Amino acid sequence: MSEKVYPVLPSAKKNALIDNETYLAWYKQSIKDPEKFWAKHGKRIDWFKPYTKVKNTSFEGKVAIKWFEDGQTNVSYNCIDRHLKKRGDQVAIIWEGDNPYLDKKVTYNELYEQVCRLANVLKKHGVKKGDRVTIYMPMIVEATYAMLACARIGAVHSVVFGGFSPDALAGRIIDCESTFVITADEGMRGGKPIPLKDNTDKAIDIAAKHHVMVKNVLVVRRTGGKTSWAPNRDLWYHEEILSVKPECKPEKMKAEDPLFILYTSGSTGKPKGVLHTTGGYLVYASMTHQYVFDYHDGDIYWCTADVGWVTGHSYIVYGPLANGATTLMFEGVPNYPTNSRFWEVIDKHKVNIFYTAPTAIRALMSAGDEPVKKTSRKSLRILGSVGEPINPEAWEWYYQVVGDKRSPIVDTWWQTETGGILITPLPGATDLKPGSATRPFFGVQPQLVDNEGDVLEGAADGNLCITDSWPGQMRTLYGDHKRFIEAYFSTYKGKYFTGDGCRRDKDGYYWITGRVDDVLNVSGHRMGTAEVESALVSHDTVSEAAVVGYPHDLKGQGIYCYVTLMAGLEGSDELRKELVAHVRKEIGPIASPDKIQFAPGLPKTRSGKIMRRILRKIAEDDFGSLGDTSTLADPAVVDDLIANRQNKK
Ligand code: PRX
Repeated sequence: MSEKVYPVLPSAKKNALIDNETYLAWYKQSIKDPEKFWAKHGKRIDWFKPYTKVKNTSFEGKVAIKWFEDGQTNVSYNCIDRHLKKRGDQVAIIWEGDNPYLDKKVTYNELYEQVCRLANVLKKHGVKKGDRVTIYMPMIVEATYAMLACARIGAVHSVVFGGFSPDALAGRIIDCESTFVITADEGMRGGKPIPLKDNTDKAIDIAAKHHVMVKNVLVVRRTGGKTSWAPNRDLWYHEEILSVKPECKPEKMKAEDPLFILYTSGSTGKPKGVLHTTGGYLVYASMTHQYVFDYHDGDIYWCTADVGWVTGHSYIVYGPLANGATTLMFEGVPNYPTNSRFWEVIDKHKVNIFYTAPTAIRALMSAGDEPVKKTSRKSLRILGSVGEPINPEAWEWYYQVVGDKRSPIVDTWWQTETGGILITPLPGATDLKPGSATRPFFGVQPQLVDNEGDVLEGAADGNLCITDSWPGQMRTLYGDHKRFIEAYFSTYKGKYFTGDGCRRDKDGYYWITGRVDDVLNVSGHRMGTAEVESALVSHDTVSEAAVVGYPHDLKGQGIYCYVTLMAGLEGSDELRKELVAHVRKEIGPIASPDKIQFAPGLPKTRSGKIMRRILRKIAEDDFGSLGDTSTLADPAVVDDLIANRQNKK
């Protein structure tokens, strides 16, 4: 493969925080003596009680990960209070509404007051340190206040993406036994309302059937749309915050006290509650934010993610605010009201650093150059990409057309589990290759192994593991440490297994090739095939289902479902539509199946295991190379699957 190299831009190197010599020296130190390295960098946040122990981590046996364990701090204090003296009047959050005529700015002083008030509201209603609070919000500033208010009093937040269905929300409320929910009457995206409060009501009813009783719902009035109201349970946000004091002392938290739970999809079963803790997470989120985006005081930084995903946690809220940055929060979507929206927002707010997902870049690229070219974008200095592999064509377009060849692209590879970016270029240090996430961040030791677990050296293609801990790493799965060990540390003993395939080239650059497990990445949204399958089989007509991904031009991966109906039933287009609607209802619109094939039988081994390899090939319309099918219980099913495939080219 010919690999184009873009050397570090002189303009990017000029005032960069980290140049290549510094990168190499720091990286070496961070691996040779992690204790010393992190003892120093842990001080980037303020501690109420300084730590004396730095790293106490083991990927063996019971797996225990502790960083800065005897230190005490508070995340909300670090994101707000410590900045007030120097930058109380500086803008902390620029909010840009779905409607281009709506925006607002929140200074650090205002952020302080709002977060303190909300923290007091939580306390007033009995929320205590360690309690779980579910946040189901649109992209409005109150979502950030809610996260920080929880952090302030030591409550553990679980943010659930506003696009999830009542069922999905209920599952997440039940799993962490959350008794307090913060939501809005409705969300607003692309000019369309989203019934968040109604969804919450439904979710609470489902949770009650599982004996999880939500005591209060705090509701932000965003649209003024009508919702039902339970007077003993529901509270208006705007009324409550006026009933409390504008000051609230931050709770002293131990470094390893939980900060948040964030549910993410695995290859099997229900979503996993990834648990992140306080000290190490904040050190890592803030340090990566500063160096990966080369953040300088006064820069306007915009990450287009939703706070419902980890990118929103680490790189809209915690990383930037811990650094005293100005972070832009966008309520809308890339193509509303027009395909120029992103670029217009960049011009309007003079954005210097812009961080988005390849799926958005591909969608906007397909609309042509004109919507970009009619904007100036001259404030832009750095571009970022996250969430899925970026194909070189999209990379080139992002670089040439959006960035006018002036702005390096940081292609950042990481995961919900990693808390922060692990493999990435640094703008002033790393030569770029389109499609490669390039080199590890400080303290990160990637390793490639083959399927037997043998370590691959030099240029190689294999499964991506990380051999030692970094401060931002997840600590456990909420309430299920056994599953944590099984999911991440048992495939390759003593190593953290990422679930991603990866190639390392002769220059030591990493190229993520995508998931090697049964996890899909659809438009940058992570989804378990098992979740979509269980949604499908919960429909009356479905007896069995198998779901695989296939390459999709815009979404990265599309969702291809093989469905076996109950005996005597016939498939039809109408039933296809019904099944799509059913999956959307069960999980949410992000899980909409792209293709449904009715299959009288699925290819199974004699022991009954579905051979997904074959299903993937047929979904890709690449059935010439099905490989060995001799172990199938009934090889004839394959012919039927091929004959009725839905992706004929
Ligand atoms: O497959 C990788 C892909 O997204 C997965 C993690 O998804 P999630 O936990 O939802 O977090 C997404 C945002 C951090 C990874 O296992 N992925 C993420 N970033 C990249 C990527 N694949 C290739 N290149 C990336 N830059």
